[in-house]
Amino acid sequence: MDAKAREEIQAAVQALDEALGGLINFMMTLRPTLRNEIMQICGHHIETARQAKERLECCLRQTPVIPSRPHDGHAGVPITAGGLRNMARVIKVGEINELTPGQGKLVQVDAQDIALFNVNGTYYAMGAVCPHEEGPLHEGEVDGDSIICPWHGYDFNVKTGECSVDSDLRVMTYIVKTEGNDLLIEVA
Ligand code: FES
Repeated sequence: MDAKAREEIQAAVQALDEALGGLINFMMTLRPTLRNEIMQICGHHIETARQAKERLECCLRQTPVIPSRPHDGHAGVPITAGGLRNMARVIKVGEINELTPGQGKLVQVDAQDIALFNVNGTYYAMGAVCPHEEGPLHEGEVDGDSIICPWHGYDFNVKTGECSVDSDLRVMTYIVKTEGNDLLIEVA
C-alpha cells in the first residue's frame, strides 16, 4: 500500500468513526422502544459500517507502506473479494431445550430486542417490538406460521415478518440455526 492509499484509508476510518459515534450518541437519546425499532430497520447497516471500519483498520495495521509503482492505475485498497461482503455473524442466543413448541422468549443482540420462537420444532426469530403500538411480540401466541401480538392481535409471519392485518406493517426476521443444543442467530 502506498502512502497516499494509507492516507485515504485513514481518512475513511476517521469518517466512519465520527459517523458511528454521532449516530450512537443520538440513538442513546431516544426512548428504548423507538431505538429498538430503528435498530430493527437499519441495525444491520450500522453493524456493516462498524465492521468496515474494523477491516480498514486491520488493513492499516497489517499492510506495510510500499511506494506506488508508476502507471499503477490506482492505489487499490487491499480488500479481498468478499472482504467487505459476507460479514454476517452467527451469535448464540440460547439452547434448544429452553423453548418448547409454541413458546417464545426475548433475546438481545447488539442492543436489539429479538423474539425467538419454537414453531412446531423449528426455530424462528423476529424483531420483538410490534410495529403497531410497540407490543411485546416475544409474549405473542404462535398460530400456524404467525405470531399474534398480545396487545391488539395483529399477526406477523415468522418467515417474512409480514402482517396480514396491515400490509404496511412488518418486522425484521432473522435466520436461526441450530448447532448441537445451541440456538444461533445470523446477524449482518
Ligand atoms: S401493539 Fe401489537 S397489535 Fe397493537
